Amino acid sequence: MKLLILNGPNLNLLGTREPETYGNKSFEDYFSDLQFKFRNVELSYGQTNIEGELIDKIQNAREVFDGVILNAAAYTHTSVGIGDAIAAIDIPVVEVHISNTFSREDFRHKSFISPNAKGVIVGFGLQSYDLAIQSFLKD
Ligand code: DQA
Repeated sequence: MKLLILNGPNLNLLGTREPETYGNKSFEDYFSDLQFKFRNVELSYGQTNIEGELIDKIQNAREVFDGVILNAAAYTHTSVGIGDAIAAIDIPVVEVHISNTFSREDFRHKSFISPNAKGVIVGFGLQSYDLAIQSFLKD
């Protein structure tokens, strides 16, 4: 099983960015924990702040991975292009969010990802990624 974890804008700052909302662990540290826990899964990780690069990474994933775990961050709420990219590929995409976007501002309640996602995991902190990996292993 080969899975790609893909993070969008500002998630490179995890650990220092709004720690009351996103915690104080960097994603690199958490990714090492995930690799250790899921030693039987080939995990890859990518991050970009650029919308078009996220689209390229989603498109390219279809040739390499069995699935994508996507936190498109702020682009979740704005990007028709990322939603279309998910519709265009035939591998499953699980949408994740660290915070509970539904308990936050109204503009975070809308997702262009969800309609084309296999499922959505929201609000469990960094554990949202762990739960997303488990969802693939249940198949
Ligand atoms: C987020 C929620 C988004 O609304 C926000 O723009 C982010 C992170 C989350 O993981 O909780 O950057 O996707």
